Amino acid sequence: MEFSEVVITRRSVRDFLPDPIPQEVLEEILEAGRLAPSAQNRQPWRYIVFTDNAEIKKLALNTGLIGLSNIFIRSAPCLIIACADTKKNVRINQQDYYLVDTAISFQQMVLAAWNRGVGSCWLAAFSEKKLRAYLRIPKSWRIVALSPFGYPADKKSLYSKTLTAFAGSKDRLPLSETVTFYPSEKK
Ligand SMILES: Cc1cc2nc3c(=O)[nH]c(=O)nc-3n(C[C@H](O)[C@H](O)[C@H](O)COP(=O)(O)O)c2cc1C
Repeated sequence: MEFSEVVITRRSVRDFLPDPIPQEVLEEILEAGRLAPSAQNRQPWRYIVFTDNAEIKKLALNTGLIGLSNIFIRSAPCLIIACADTKKNVRINQQDYYLVDTAISFQQMVLAAWNRGVGSCWLAAFSEKKLRAYLRIPKSWRIVALSPFGYPADKKSLYSKTLTAFAGSKDRLPLSETVTFYPSEKK
């Protein structure tokens, strides 16, 4: 795909075909995350990759997905948990950059995946405490996000349609509300 097409057509995917992601595609996705920029090039991201659907199902049932609203991950053939090692953090102007760095890296993976027709959906609604215990994640790591990855199913479930409508997922603010040119032309 053209880069602009990747950006324009990407949407959160919550319904997946069971087909596994071929190894070379998965490697391309992970490589896109690896190449991301980060503050002082500290590369704090650490990824835990699931490619066994039975393990994803277990994870979905045992790790406190908030309000069960994210239970749709159980249909995915792949799940990636994006963590950040806070030992690699850079703090500038009272801002911790490990979250920014990891988000940039993970979003590169999301776009690289979509470029190969692989859908995903950022998830924030999970219990970090439960996931941490379940996966025995090191103390210095934070869990930043997780996302299922897989080929989109032909039909969206009523559940995912409702979620999309609830979040108003198609709406975006106009540039006039989010961008200010300086100096302003208006007097
Ligand atoms: C940081 C972040 C956290 C999100 N958490 C969730 C979540 O827990 N569950 C979910 O279904 N979608 C989640 N989403 C997906 C958003 O609802 C979605 O990106 C937004 O509605 C725009 O829709 P689109 O991705 O289809 O363009 C999250 C997205 C981001 C970036």
